[in-house]
Amino acid sequence: MSVTMKIISVVGARPQFIKAVLVSQEIRKTHTEILVHTGQHYDINMSRTFFEELNIPEPDYNLETGSDTHARQTGKIMMKIEEIYESEKPELVLVYGDTNSTIAAALAAVKLHIPIAHVEAGPRMNDKNIPEEVNRILTDHISDLLFAPTKTSVDNLHREGLNQGIYLTGDVMLDSFIHFKKMNADNIEILHKYNLNPGQYFLATVHRARNTDIEENLQNIVDALCHISEKIIIPLHPRTTKYLKQFGLYQKLNEVPNLIISDPVGYIDSIILTSNAKKILTDSGGLQKEAYFARVPCITLDESTGWTETVEDNWNVLVGSDKNKILDAVENFSPKREQRNVFGDGKAAEKMVSIISQFHSKR
Ligand code: UD1
Ligand code: UDP
Repeated sequence: MSVTMKIISVVGARPQFIKAVLVSQEIRKTHTEILVHTGQHYDINMSRTFFEELNIPEPDYNLETGSDTHARQTGKIMMKIEEIYESEKPELVLVYGDTNSTIAAALAAVKLHIPIAHVEAGPRMNDKNIPEEVNRILTDHISDLLFAPTKTSVDNLHREGLNQGIYLTGDVMLDSFIHFKKMNADNIEILHKYNLNPGQYFLATVHRARNTDIEENLQNIVDALCHISEKIIIPLHPRTTKYLKQFGLYQKLNEVPNLIISDPVGYIDSIILTSNAKKILTDSGGLQKEAYFARVPCITLDESTGWTETVEDNWNVLVGSDKNKILDAVENFSPKREQRNVFGDGKAAEKMVSIISQFHSKR
């Protein structure tokens, strides 16, 4: 017998809309969901586009937090969301991933003794200089239900002494990828728009703080991109646009004839661009996984990854922001091995909601 619960789901940044969409649909079959958008991302093409194209219900609350320093952004979300928790009295708070919205929502909930479920618990990059790593570790240690996307994530949690409430559910990003790709297999307008032929272009994305905010690293990445002779499309995250302009690099990139700069694209265009690319250059955690789902070689512009299986399977190579390593991988990196089924079976959302329902009925 299922018992209806009141769940507050918290999203705020682009990858969270993609992670939440199918979980939200599943929750609403049995439970009452209150959707809170923190407003961490707010440009139309970083937020509204995703709600419209993926049919995500309108948020019940938008905290309109906007951009700020880490402490101020996190603090503002905490202060506003605490009021919502107090008035709505949810029986569970559901948080996604590793952003400032994630830790803020979790920290406010734990102090009010509201149980927390964390989707994407356990990936580790073993570097506390990465803001997302701190967010992930802290959120995992205060959550009651830890939905681990991979076996490696489960092992990481155990290594930190966590033993309760851990479930290997698979990755909800695989659920979304399968679901929306199937619905949009012929939706290749974006390829026509930029005159891109399948298998004959590179897709690049950059937004990690250590690649964008440090001039030398951004300069190296731009230099490497300028040396690639094939077509490249780079949908620019607003953070990257800001720093490219600040460091005087935007014009240089814009003058490369075979390089297409675009605004951030919607999710459907993103998975079409990913699935048809020759190779992907990225520092995005989500895109590393999607490259693997699509069986497209990934060159990761970072020193470490939470998705170590993609590297072990030789579908992903870590090159940081080293220009020579990037260009070497562009020329020579080619996957040699079969893939394991490391991200689950595309039914993570169903599993999570079933675990949440059982958790509630036992309390
Ligand atoms: C955040 C997450 C990161 C995630 C990424 C997804 C943290 C610490 N980082 O990084 O884990 O990979 O989202 O994309 O939470 N900006 C705009 N418009 C927007 C949003 C951002 O112009 O709608 C610009 C602002 O200049 C802002 C900067 O981008 O200062 C960074 O935004 P922020 O949300 O702080 O971090 P992200 O780099 O997006
Ligand atoms: N994405 C998108 N439009 C873009 C770039 C990325 O829809 O212009 C999608 C991408 O397919 C993936 C997710 O955004 O599902 C990844 O988000 P992002 O790279 O911002 O964050 P991360 O995964 O690194 O946290």
